[in-house]
Amino acid sequence: MSPALGKDLLGLEPLCADDIRLILDTAEPFKEISERAIKKVPVLRGKTIVNLFFEASTRTRISFEFAEKRLSADTVNVATAASSVQKGETLVDTARNLEAMRIDMVVIRHGASGAAKFLADRIQSNVINAGDGKHEHPTQALLDLLTIRDRRPIEGSKVCIVGDVLHSRVARSNIWGLLKLGAEVAVCGPQSLLPLGIEQLGVRVFRRIEEAIEWADVLNVLRLQLERMQAGYVPSQREYYRVFGVTLERLERAPRGLLILHPGPMNRGVEIDSRVADGPHSVILNQVTNGVAVRMAVLYLLAGGRPELAEAAKGGPER
Ligand code: CP
Repeated sequence: MSPALGKDLLGLEPLCADDIRLILDTAEPFKEISERAIKKVPVLRGKTIVNLFFEASTRTRISFEFAEKRLSADTVNVATAASSVQKGETLVDTARNLEAMRIDMVVIRHGASGAAKFLADRIQSNVINAGDGKHEHPTQALLDLLTIRDRRPIEGSKVCIVGDVLHSRVARSNIWGLLKLGAEVAVCGPQSLLPLGIEQLGVRVFRRIEEAIEWADVLNVLRLQLERMQAGYVPSQREYYRVFGVTLERLERAPRGLLILHPGPMNRGVEIDSRVADGPHSVILNQVTNGVAVRMAVLYLLAGGRPELAEAAKGGPER
């Protein structure tokens, strides 16, 4: 267990700025491992990690699996569609049965907000939240922060989160992380997709994308989470793109070059123009690359690794 972080990583809300900086700083030396010909170090040799994904995922699940394998942990992926969850077994019973096989960590994605904490309170293994409902997605926000920090100081940066904030765990984790590190944060989207009273978190609200683009240094563009919408929150995807789409024409009118982030999966032509997603200011694939290093850092710290020894633990360059 990490003395700094505790047993689990459930969100960024409970962390202080120093905890967040510790994870980002620990990720720095781990970046280089993924650039080697042999992408493996023995840091987590002997540890067993279960990736328990109750919701679809491409980036997060594969990124965690790469991070675990590159640190030499033994990993098991539990696809819930093929597990005893389908036979009515509860989340806790599933996890306790896994613990009976002597595992060390669980990475969980679940559709219910609070599922990761519910599990963490009931099992001894470290629990890492890989996204719980509309609540938090801490490793996504950490990789977003690392990607911004690679290009500009986070403190004082103006970051606007654009789109479906209402259904977004990424937005919540980003808001906590950015505010704690001293950024100015705003959100922009249709009123129906912004949580009531979001200003009380300390964020500005823009109703027009043009105003957000004029204000911001960084845009983090979110997709419309149609799977979490029970009613028509926007008239149509075409209408949404016309009013809130992050298009090249809109960015060309900005007073400065904006850094463009998107957590994925991306819906081109709905929330973002392909020319922006693939353009010179986009760091969308850099986010994905940084995700592996951030997750390595989280796994290392929760396993009790000392941040000051991360550089030594990964060994010298091996080509
Ligand atoms: N950003 C993110 O969580 O993507 P996945 O749903 O593909 O994991």
